[in-house]
Amino acid sequence: MSNELLAEVVSAVPMPTLMVDQTERIIAANTDARTLLGQNITGRHFATILRQPQVIEAMEQSLRTKGQARTRHLSNDGAQDTTFEVECRYMNGVGAVSGGAVLVVFQDVTHLEHASQMRRDFVANVSHELRTPLTALMGFIETLRGPARDDVSARERFLQIMMDEANRMNRLVGDLLSLNRVESEERIRPREQLELTALLQSTLNNLRPLAEASSVVLTLNAPDGPVSLTGDSDQLRQVFTNLIENAIKYGGSGGSVEVRVLSSDRDTAMRGPAVRVQIIDKGPGIDATHLPRLTERFYRADSHRSRELGGTGLGLAIVKHIINRHRGRLRVESDLGKGAVFTVILPR
Ligand SMILES: Nc1ncnc2c1ncn2[C@@H]1O[C@H](COP(=O)(O)OP(=O)(O)OP(=O)(O)O)[C@@H](O)[C@H]1O
Ligand SMILES: [Mg+2]
Repeated sequence: MSNELLAEVVSAVPMPTLMVDQTERIIAANTDARTLLGQNITGRHFATILRQPQVIEAMEQSLRTKGQARTRHLSNDGAQDTTFEVECRYMNGVGAVSGGAVLVVFQDVTHLEHASQMRRDFVANVSHELRTPLTALMGFIETLRGPARDDVSARERFLQIMMDEANRMNRLVGDLLSLNRVESEERIRPREQLELTALLQSTLNNLRPLAEASSVVLTLNAPDGPVSLTGDSDQLRQVFTNLIENAIKYGGSGGSVEVRVLSSDRDTAMRGPAVRVQIIDKGPGIDATHLPRLTERFYRADSHRSRELGGTGLGLAIVKHIINRHRGRLRVESDLGKGAVFTVILPR
């Protein structure tokens, strides 16, 4: 095969690909390979370009044995660390000198690495979250069997704590299942016709006892007429329950939580008819550094306070998935000391 033809074949491969012959020089490279490894790489010795020891070793092995080799190439594209699976395959009878050449193909497996890292983190987080109440439960069982065996008042107190811890585990498992369900139907469009103001009114009524216990005044400001939209009423109720509950739990020191409904025929974010529901509190607010990560599973801005209040840190992750399913958006604006505004934008 002529070198021109080889270069043509290499340039047609839809991922970074190059070819190294028995002179150990790169005889062909496509655009993707040049983006990954540098512009003027043809004609250069492969070891000056592929500087990672495991890649050089795989290349040498393939050239020496005239067989195949496989390894990984780690890089960074400026935005994130990238991982490529490198396949070296030997081709007989091609190249500048006779004896053949190695075809090197780089397959981008960054997203796979990323997904399995996320899975590992998730399992680690869940185990940690479950272990904390479990350890407490085991400790109290131990105490009740031993030192506190005949102490009636201690027994009552410990059983109450055990109940609280068991409840926390129960909430966690419930939230995990809920998150799973929401994620699995994220691509199925909701179809129910619903009236938003009534839904918000009844959600607020359910939360009144909590608000009163924290001395928070709850108010609803909505347009006079009905606000109809297509959605899943149970899920939307879950969204607003969590957001209003958060505003009471974490922003309640401001004394008031307002729910504001704004309907527009041409929403700037949705480029069409949409409704915005804002949950506004006057509490301590959230530091800007936390905002981008707030909807991650188990992420808490103030983890001590959240745990103390029985939070699992899954609420906003569930909220985000439900809003995605509704093709909506979630915006969070906050400054330390200035309260927080959570805005849910839903297409109408
Ligand atoms: N209105 C708010 N003001 C201040 N911090 C907030 C507010 N809303 C949420 N946060 C912070 O964001 C974190 C994540 O909230 P999220 O609802 O996901 O979890 P949670 O409330 O801790 O647990 P769960 O909702 O499962 O009971 C909270 O732990 C809290 O630190
Ligand atoms: Mg919450």
